[in-house]
Amino acid sequence: APGRVIFSGIQPTGVPHLGNYLGALSNWVRLQKTAAPEDELFFSIVGWHALTLPQDPDTLAASRKDLLATLLAIGLDPKRSILFHQDHNPVHTELAWILSCLTPIGKLRRMTTWKTRLAASRNANDESEVDESLLNAGLFTYPVLQAADILAYRATHVPVGEDQTQHLELCRDLADIFNRTSGRPIFPLPSQLNTISRRILSLRDPTSKMSKSSPDLQSRILLTDTAAQIKSKIRSAVTDSTPGITYDPLARPGTSNLLTILSACTDEDVHAVAGRYEGKGHGHLKADVAEAVEDLLKGPRTEFERIRHEKTFLEAVAKAGAERARERSEATMVCVRELLGL
Ligand code: ADP
Ligand code: NA
Repeated sequence: APGRVIFSGIQPTGVPHLGNYLGALSNWVRLQKTAAPEDELFFSIVGWHALTLPQDPDTLAASRKDLLATLLAIGLDPKRSILFHQDHNPVHTELAWILSCLTPIGKLRRMTTWKTRLAASRNANDESEVDESLLNAGLFTYPVLQAADILAYRATHVPVGEDQTQHLELCRDLADIFNRTSGRPIFPLPSQLNTISRRILSLRDPTSKMSKSSPDLQSRILLTDTAAQIKSKIRSAVTDSTPGITYDPLARPGTSNLLTILSACTDEDVHAVAGRYEGKGHGHLKADVAEAVEDLLKGPRTEFERIRHEKTFLEAVAKAGAERARERSEATMVCVRELLGL
């Protein structure tokens, strides 16, 4: 049987945080370990997606390099997985254009991500007034670029979180429209690969997810944080004044978030972890969480500090990844262009 083709991407918008690691990147490493030999794995640093928001060029250039070093540091193997920069393969934009010409704009208007952007750009006093300077066409059409990222490799499985379900549905719709319009079933309809899905919350506001967009630097732990930084951030994590420790995400989001982090680090069931802390206090829990996070991140951090300075090696990895990605997608594009009369 032919293997699965697995594709996933991550934006180069700064050092990944613990949420990115536990929610996405650690799944990539697990997939690489558990994949069948005939499975193909593509992991892409999607620089074009980052341009949907204003980026400082020097910062973006540094983030692109550091993210590749991070992917290697957490254990992705460039011999096993195809690690590459999206912007090294022009096929992504070519296919995105072709797909955009098949995309009913109504579908894009229904994207939750777009609706959120649109809502954020509305005048607080007059809802009908939209500040168009906060919107660009890329923000509207990037789900099409995402579909092209996936379909360029005829991916069959996409490991992404629940927040991406709607985008993946659009991707399947576009694959189906192309297949039916051209009369050739060229694109498989990719399915969402259910990986361990965890939502890590902000350490300072446990009603929202840990995110790089929060201005409060204490709200997130970065993969490059030192043991002292990890300790201080966990110590100042917002919890509650209820005595004892219980896992109750609705009533006790901060406390439960710490238990989620601990159980993710030690790979245990969260209820089993909670059971061990029943009669104990937050100080005790926080000390253990800090230690577990440090244990988890120490290896990747040390590797990252080592690899990020190996410029020649990093360039060679990026170049080899791009060549493999281009070659694989070109095979698809030859058919696509021919079917369109190009
Ligand atoms: P951010 O919200 O920090 O901008 P991204 O949107 O770039 O993060 O997400 C990159 C990947 O990390 C996605 O697969 C996303 O589902 C995952 N992710 C981001 N934040 C979290 C979180 N707090 N908990 C779990 N997974 C997360
Ligand atoms: Na985001």
